[in-house]
Amino acid sequence: MRKKLIAGNWKMNLGPADSAKLAQDILNAASGNDKADIVIAPTYTSLDRVSGIIHGSNVKLSAQDMHWEEQGAFTGKISWDMLKELNVEYAILGHSEQRTFFHETNQTVNMKTKKALEKSLIPIVCVGETLEERESGKTNAVCEDHVRGAFQGISKEDAVKCIIAYEPVWAIGTGKNATPEQAQDVHAFIRNLLKEMYDEGAASTIRILYGGSMKPDNAAGLLSKPDIDGGLIGGASLKADSFLGIINAAP
Ligand code: PGA
Repeated sequence: MRKKLIAGNWKMNLGPADSAKLAQDILNAASGNDKADIVIAPTYTSLDRVSGIIHGSNVKLSAQDMHWEEQGAFTGKISWDMLKELNVEYAILGHSEQRTFFHETNQTVNMKTKKALEKSLIPIVCVGETLEERESGKTNAVCEDHVRGAFQGISKEDAVKCIIAYEPVWAIGTGKNATPEQAQDVHAFIRNLLKEMYDEGAASTIRILYGGSMKPDNAAGLLSKPDIDGGLIGGASLKADSFLGIINAAP
């Protein structure tokens, strides 16, 4: 049985003071909650404050990205050891906003995923199609390309440590979520692909989250599907009550 995982991606929202308050509110409400693994991803400047608040609790910390190099002349970038020092355990990699606005490619996602695994950070690898790609029948092909690209050269032993997030680009921040059936279809496709790439054991171990306008009122339907193992939540993770509403919607 794969335990559900609910992750909040705060994106470029909330400075340290507001992040600290939200983290404390989430901790107060979610402390001891065993329905799902709970992860929050504040912006870099808030990681230190939030880390101090949630350290040792069941709420875990994620970064929104990381660089594949260890250190050096990479202005604006963050390395794994800077994250580890703040007790960050997860890293969101290949988010569509990174792909769209910051030249993220399958190759850079792959390099980041390998580095994260080497350093024992858990990668949350994002994949998903645009509206145009969906409408031209390319959804599965795009997801396959993203998954194969991210996992290129990664062993089964490492692959099972990863999490995949299926995030249709047309559903992100639009209020228009994929229906549970649409999402389930793609999740099942990805799981099948993992079976082909690795084996049955790996495919049934790797958690596949859904992301894209997930909210308390649509979460139960999505989370009840057999291949949807949790959610990567943007907008609705910025308020403790809606984030908790999604966690509590987990079956
Ligand atoms: P959204 O974002 O929940 O605001 O649609 C999801 C994401 O981008 O991870």
